[in-house]
Amino acid sequence: MITLSRFTKCIVWGLFILGSFQTIAADNLLKINPDRAKFNYQMLCQGCHTPDGTGGKSVPKIKDFIGYFLQKEIAREYLVKVPGSANSSLNDAQLAEVLNWMIIEFGGESVPKNMQYFTTNEVATLRQQPLFEVVEYRKMLIKQLSVK
Ligand code: HEC
Repeated sequence: MITLSRFTKCIVWGLFILGSFQTIAADNLLKINPDRAKFNYQMLCQGCHTPDGTGGKSVPKIKDFIGYFLQKEIAREYLVKVPGSANSSLNDAQLAEVLNWMIIEFGGESVPKNMQYFTTNEVATLRQQPLFEVVEYRKMLIKQLSVK
């Protein structure tokens, strides 16, 4: 009986340890929590970008468009370096999550089939070099993309 219970304990501990490793591994991958992402978008981005990503006068349309920026590395980086992203009060993980969420939520047909998600590390590095002259830079980027 004692041996069995020791054996059981071993199994339980084994599963526990395995479980913790899995949690650690999963934390390194990006998990999108859509409710949290939407909340952050509503609090910090929606005021300019509008609830459905249509944008407005001086705010470009994200809806059915934002995914085109993923065609080229330099344009992908732009999505993080743009002041609205880079200078936001979101931490790196939250910003990565909101950007991924915006692309999935609003991007529609513009999103490449093999979309590469932004990771926390990638965002952390890129946002250290925010852009200043954005309007012309954006135009220059869009010329390089195939946009429908
Ligand atoms: C004060 C208004 C404002 C707020 C708030 C704002 N943005 Fe923006 N955003 C803009 C404007 C304007 C542009 C166009 C580029 C530029 O002039 O900065 C833009 C562009 C972008 C782009 C690139 C899309 C494109 O087509 O150029 C992304 C991505 C983006 N914003 C993300 C965010 C995120 C994420 C937030 C919230 C954390 C946010 N923005 C908050 C005004 C805003």
